[in-house]
Amino acid sequence: MAGPSDTVALIADVPFFGGLTEKTRKAVVSEGKEIAFKAGDMAVGESGTGVGFYLVLDGKVEVRKGAKVLATLEKGQFFGEMSVIDGQPRSADVVAVAPTRCWVLPSWSFAGLVQAHPEVALPMLKELVKRLRAAQSSPTS
Ligand code: CMP
Repeated sequence: MAGPSDTVALIADVPFFGGLTEKTRKAVVSEGKEIAFKAGDMAVGESGTGVGFYLVLDGKVEVRKGAKVLATLEKGQFFGEMSVIDGQPRSADVVAVAPTRCWVLPSWSFAGLVQAHPEVALPMLKELVKRLRAAQSSPTS
């Protein structure tokens, strides 16, 4: 299991944290915790209450809505932001499809992070727009 300094190194090249100094990254990393999933584990369940923002450190997860796979997320990508932002139930299941490590930030720390370091919001917004465009162009079923 990687310790906090490994986690700092792992997230150093993640766009989400790209604008932060190493000192800030260390401080932010200490507010979250690392969590490991086996293939088949559900990280987040649809309709559950969201209390965490997840960043994939390594491995792979699928975002699923019923039988449909909405997205596959890997190192450097995030999930769980929707419920953390609006307090609504989780919009989809997120299931590990390989051994996966995530860094999880509680929702109360997420709000503080964005307020203290608004530069983290821009890469996140870009990713959200990308997902919205992909959802718009995928056929409905
Ligand atoms: P949340 O609703 O908190 O929990 C489920 C997560 O799945 C959601 O946040 C997003 O992070 C992710 N998610 C939902 N829909 C999509 C999508 N169309 N593409 C990529 N990720 C998604």
